[in-house]
Amino acid sequence: MLRIHSIWIIVLLHLPVIWCMTNSKREKLRDETASLFKHGYEGYMKYAYPADELRPLSCGPLHRDPDPNNIGINDIHANVSMTLLDVLSALPVIHPTAFPKAVQLVAEKVSFDQDVKVQVFEMTIRALGALLSTYQTLDDLPDDPAQQYYKGRILELAYDLGKRLLPAFQPVTGIPYARVNLRYGLLKGESIETCTAGAGSLLLEFALLSRLTGDDRFESLAHKAYLALWNRRSTQNLLSNTIGTHGHWLAPGMSGVGAGMDSFFEYGLKAGIMLDEDTYTDIFYDSYAAVQTYIRTSDGFIYRTIQTRLLQPASPSTIDSLSAFLPAMQVLAGDIESAIKSHLVFWNLWRKHNAMPESWLWQERKIEWTGYPGRPEFIESTYYLYQATKDPFYLRVGEKILQDLKTRTKTRCGFATLKNVMTGEQEDRMESFMLSESLKYLYLLFADEPFPNSNTVFTTEGHPLRILKNLLRSPSNPRRAMRKGENPTCPVYQPFSVGGSYTKGIALGIEGREDYDYARSLIYGLSGTGVEIEDGRRIWYDGGKCKIPVESKFAFEIVLSPLNVTDPSAVPPEDPSPGPSKVEQDSATGDYLISDIEGLRLGVRWRFDGKGYDVVNIGPHRIRQGQNVIVQDPAMRGHLPIPSSPSINSESPPELTLRFISYPPSTAFISMPGSATEGQILLHAIGATATSGIDFVPATGTDSTSTEPAWRIGNQPARLVIPPKIDDQLYQGCSKISLESLGINSDASEPFVLMVSRGGCTFFEKLEVAKDLGAIGVLVIGYAPLEEGEAVPPEREYERERGFEDGLIRPSAEYEESHPKYQYIKDVGMVYTEWVIGEVLRRLVETEQNVIGIEILNIDGHNDGSTPANGSEEAKNFLSSSKFHEEKNKDTLTNQGYLMVGGWPIMNLRVIDSDNKYVFTGGKPP
Ligand SMILES: *[C@@H]1O[C@H](CO)[C@@H](O)[C@H](O)[C@H]1NC(C)=O
Ligand SMILES: *[C@@H]1O[C@H](CO)[C@@H](O)[C@H](O)[C@H]1NC(C)=O
Ligand SMILES: *[C@@H]1O[C@H](CO)[C@@H](O)[C@H](O)[C@H]1NC(C)=O
Repeated sequence: MLRIHSIWIIVLLHLPVIWCMTNSKREKLRDETASLFKHGYEGYMKYAYPADELRPLSCGPLHRDPDPNNIGINDIHANVSMTLLDVLSALPVIHPTAFPKAVQLVAEKVSFDQDVKVQVFEMTIRALGALLSTYQTLDDLPDDPAQQYYKGRILELAYDLGKRLLPAFQPVTGIPYARVNLRYGLLKGESIETCTAGAGSLLLEFALLSRLTGDDRFESLAHKAYLALWNRRSTQNLLSNTIGTHGHWLAPGMSGVGAGMDSFFEYGLKAGIMLDEDTYTDIFYDSYAAVQTYIRTSDGFIYRTIQTRLLQPASPSTIDSLSAFLPAMQVLAGDIESAIKSHLVFWNLWRKHNAMPESWLWQERKIEWTGYPGRPEFIESTYYLYQATKDPFYLRVGEKILQDLKTRTKTRCGFATLKNVMTGEQEDRMESFMLSESLKYLYLLFADEPFPNSNTVFTTEGHPLRILKNLLRSPSNPRRAMRKGENPTCPVYQPFSVGGSYTKGIALGIEGREDYDYARSLIYGLSGTGVEIEDGRRIWYDGGKCKIPVESKFAFEIVLSPLNVTDPSAVPPEDPSPGPSKVEQDSATGDYLISDIEGLRLGVRWRFDGKGYDVVNIGPHRIRQGQNVIVQDPAMRGHLPIPSSPSINSESPPELTLRFISYPPSTAFISMPGSATEGQILLHAIGATATSGIDFVPATGTDSTSTEPAWRIGNQPARLVIPPKIDDQLYQGCSKISLESLGINSDASEPFVLMVSRGGCTFFEKLEVAKDLGAIGVLVIGYAPLEEGEAVPPEREYERERGFEDGLIRPSAEYEESHPKYQYIKDVGMVYTEWVIGEVLRRLVETEQNVIGIEILNIDGHNDGSTPANGSEEAKNFLSSSKFHEEKNKDTLTNQGYLMVGGWPIMNLRVIDSDNKYVFTGGKPP
């Protein structure tokens, strides 16, 4: 006989935990990558050198194309042994024995005095970057006369190349021409068209060249070009992708993060790191905020191109493979959470096609351009994310990449371009970045090599460059003052875990994230239909993992002003240059003190540690990390909170406690208020709420004593109806059955919850059937564990493979609110719990004929939605992990002078009164 009294059952088996990769396996993969690299390098040297590139299928040299319009080849082919140049900086890391000879060949044979028209950007990132990086590597080697000679010669070559690129900078706007002839300079009739990335990604190489040679022209021209672009930004801080050297954006104005724009962002961030100059860092974070606000979709996964002026998604909905650099940059910027998401999209693209298609239509979910020329961006991002998270998932991604490169692109003498990732058809070309970047980043991933930092960066072509302390410019005095109190920090990555804290619970890796399958659905689709995000329509998915995430708003502005009592909605004009009578910086702490809020405009941005927002500027004053903003103006009282839009999908807490109560067989449930005392608490379990149906909000004071037939936290127990097995089959709730067969008196309007098993139909259909029967809720019981040797039913294969099958899932599906079906099931609640719970209840009912009541409580066992009075570990974990809690905690935080926006505090802003006490900011004073 089965009797369980008040036992907490928390089933944590079968959850996907982090699977490790052993060091020896990782090292094996590293060595395998190194041997692939050597294969490609030796092949190039044997069959192609001194040509710029190798033909990997015919095993011969590839030369410039006589057709001047073939810019795909001729922009890069300068007759300078480009592949050798480009791999120079990778050799000391992966193939050190080949390095001295390679340096010697470059130093003695390469000449930039060539009659070739080439792209300034390509020559800069591939050749100039390689030379500067090699110069710095040689500089680190012990003094040896031969190396000294070559070192000098390498810098000479770099300087010579730099000077040959200078004619491109003729336009007064500062925006350089895209192409020059290395011998004759700017040619007559040269096209004025260039792109943002081309003109804006010269900073690192040009600045270092200037500082090493003492010739300031390079750095100042690259700086001017960068600012010339940024100064032409839109009011939303967006740039377009093509511009004329005369300074006008060219039609059609498109803004995104891929081709034509990518390294503009990257170089702002990296120039800030390498040169330690705020101008670049500030531009980067402003441009990044615009990307997160306008380019990123609301689910936080897709970065699509938009029309710069209309702010509408571009059509066709192209996303190119170059955009896969983004996660790497996001890691470097400190936004690891966004990096994980954007990387998952590209991971699924690679996984589906066993390579990265050149471009893809994200809305149609199909390939647009099938080629894969061995590009490095996705590999680079995988490497950065592994370093940031140390999650072995990224090593497994690398392993898959390695296998695909080996089986699909490796040839007798090198690595072929894939002409078609679907058919595997190859093309006779090996771009220099296949060795210099793709295999190098893959090697660094497996070698577990930390990425450079603090005045050292990898260029966009993967060449490490650094500025030694003696070449750094010391900050000016005003700048020093502004940076008082600055405390730049990067949030430490915390893997998501069951139980709320990494040290305590079971750490779930990237593959255990709730949105892992969501990202997959963006590429693979769901059961042949599709997830439409842009227009808000959502579809149902039986797997239950398809919760559509909604990101908090990334950046916004708030205008402070005294409340206008006659017209509360009136916004007074902005004060564009607030003086010391309104805002002043405390010279000791670096904090900003606001004594008069009238007309102040505050820029607010999402913090990368996920704790809420920070003020980043007050009008023209920039607030740096670590500096606080203190508002001490009586007008602030009663003026806030600020209405705002960040939305939290559903108010239901993701998890609930279910409490089951057992009553003697004869109990007439309808008389519940009196009979409640007859029941005995049978067991507690954890349930996951569905993201649609009713919101499980706490019952209000009146609700908790009423018999209102709705399912609410803390309401009366409802009767749990457990349908008997029919033909040894559990009832799945997919087709209607008679109330009589369930033992329900259809005349009495008794509120009941229907227990159904998972499978057979969608969660949505279960809700519809339950509604038809008149239930107020559905309790879905998970799949039974399979018997030893039992075949996996088709509908479970996918989840089983992913390891998601047996744990708690959140049933989800949202129709647009106006959808008739959405409306129909809106007052029926759905909760999911594990199989074992259902089994315990069923057996009890079958053997003892008891009646079961079901109550739902907050996760901490309190039924009123309040936080636990005392800090048990569980309660603490709950507090730190639950967004729901943030909402509940609003009053406490506003009481401490925090401003809340959409449930999140602005962390570096506090409101105090004249006695330095925190002001209650929640509307009325307490
Ligand atoms: C390539 O460069 C070498 C010298 O570096 C020169 O001798 C040769 O003529 C060049 N070839 C072409 C096709 O310009
Ligand atoms: C308040 O708003 C009203 C209507 O917009 C306007 O006429 C009035 O000047 C405002 N008062 C202040 C003090 O700004
Ligand atoms: C909370 O716990 C502490 C000891 O951990 C105890 O002294 C205190 O009385 C408890 N408070 C309540 C309200 O239970």
